[in-house]
Amino acid sequence: MNRTETGLVNSPPRRWLQRTYEVPVLLRFGGRLLPGTRALEIGCGSGYGSQLILERFGADTVDAVDLDPTMICRAARRLARYGDRVRLAQGSATDLRAALDADDESYGAVFDFGIVHHIPDWRKATAEVARVIAPGGRFYFEEVTSHALARPAYQRLFDHPADDRFSAEQFLDELTRNGLVVLGSLTRIQGDYLLGAAAKPVSTGGER
Ligand SMILES: C[S@@+](CC[C@H](N)C(=O)[O-])C[C@H]1O[C@@H](n2cnc3c(N)ncnc32)[C@H](O)[C@@H]1O
Repeated sequence: MNRTETGLVNSPPRRWLQRTYEVPVLLRFGGRLLPGTRALEIGCGSGYGSQLILERFGADTVDAVDLDPTMICRAARRLARYGDRVRLAQGSATDLRAALDADDESYGAVFDFGIVHHIPDWRKATAEVARVIAPGGRFYFEEVTSHALARPAYQRLFDHPADDRFSAEQFLDELTRNGLVVLGSLTRIQGDYLLGAAAKPVSTGGER
């Protein structure tokens, strides 16, 4: 992330948006977590999302990973009060075994607050998400689409991978290709932003 985006994601308006808009939408599509749920946040940034995952979604514990060690330090300061309910790791969402020793089907919920569009091999990241979600578990996502990234203002202000970005439809298709069932989603601002939740079916095709 460049300095402009780093400043923006660490700002009070970003936290306000996450708290007052994104969380209610994601809860509407995916619901609160079952007691005892072990959650994972990919690209946790300064850790505010993990705080919301504990407080608003009801996770028992959160493992959180970010590529940027500076962000992990920020998240460690914010989340210190939760003690061993939070585990932080520096690493990539494209290899959760290396970052967190994450086994197949080891999380009841995975959260993506605006990170997959930063990853050059975004399909690898979605495959990793699908791999680590347990049957009946949830994937909550908030993403920035190729439509937004193509806007001149976005290109001037921010620094994202340019090739092979995804539309809302392509992102949802990729989840389905990886065995997840989309529970609900919406797009905002002419398709610039995508929010939704998906589930990994239990063996009979049911959920939770
Ligand atoms: C736009 S910020 C979002 C931060 C936070 N989730 C939020 O909503 O405020 C994207 C974050 O993803 C992280 N990131 C980028 N590529 C990553 C990867 N391959 N694996 C894990 N984190 C990554 C960046 O370091 C950054 O903290």
